[in-house]
Amino acid sequence: MTHRAIAIDGPAASGKSTLARKLAGRLGLIMVNTGEMYRAITWELLRCGVDPGDRAAVVEALAGMDLGCGVRAGRSTVTVDGVDPGPELRSDEVNARVSEVAATPEVRERLVALQRDYLKLGDVVMEGRDIGTVVFPDTPFKIYIDASERVRSARREADGESDSVGRRDQADSSRRTAPLRVATDAAFLDNSDLDAEETLDAALRLLAEKGWKSTDLMER
Ligand code: CDP
Repeated sequence: MTHRAIAIDGPAASGKSTLARKLAGRLGLIMVNTGEMYRAITWELLRCGVDPGDRAAVVEALAGMDLGCGVRAGRSTVTVDGVDPGPELRSDEVNARVSEVAATPEVRERLVALQRDYLKLGDVVMEGRDIGTVVFPDTPFKIYIDASERVRSARREADGESDSVGRRDQADSSRRTAPLRVATDAAFLDNSDLDAEETLDAALRLLAEKGWKSTDLMER
């Protein structure tokens, strides 16, 4: 049996992770957070003193990195050379440089292969920037989630993170390789005025319209 993928893409602080976590819980899926993988590489580069803007240096460092992508308690995990960076993944330093690292084609190529491998393990809900456009272009289950920039910045502040959401979005949308954009066949979900439960309900309706079949959805 081939496994199915739900692709969730959207800009920073749009609610991707919250929605993916809730969908995974409700539908019994493996939740895969791809942003953490880009963040883990960024963390390691900074730790080793490699300039994320120096493509040749990034490619060289990447070749020597042992990236481990697994699953624990139904959720993706990431290690670099056996180390889980933990809360460091969301540090201000990583927030400030991750988009540069993510714009490097060699980094994307390596991570996209690891991301596709998750489908061998079961049905997944995967969130990121290019899941519906690049990682799983053939899945019919694509949601592009967004919220107003004001709402997204307020969410980041509430999380206690210093993160220039607008600057990261600009970099992610304008890069040459796999830019953030709405897949032509994605359902668009604006959750500026929705709480997490309402967002989940809206997503479940969109997935049902796209033909997602599971006992849970059929009961609704
Ligand atoms: O959670 P938040 O929206 O702040 O970011 P994230 O999902 O953790 O992603 C961090 C950064 O990784 C993004 O700003 C992108 O530069 C990059 N990224 C990407 O390029 N492609 C993905 N599939 C996921 C993340």
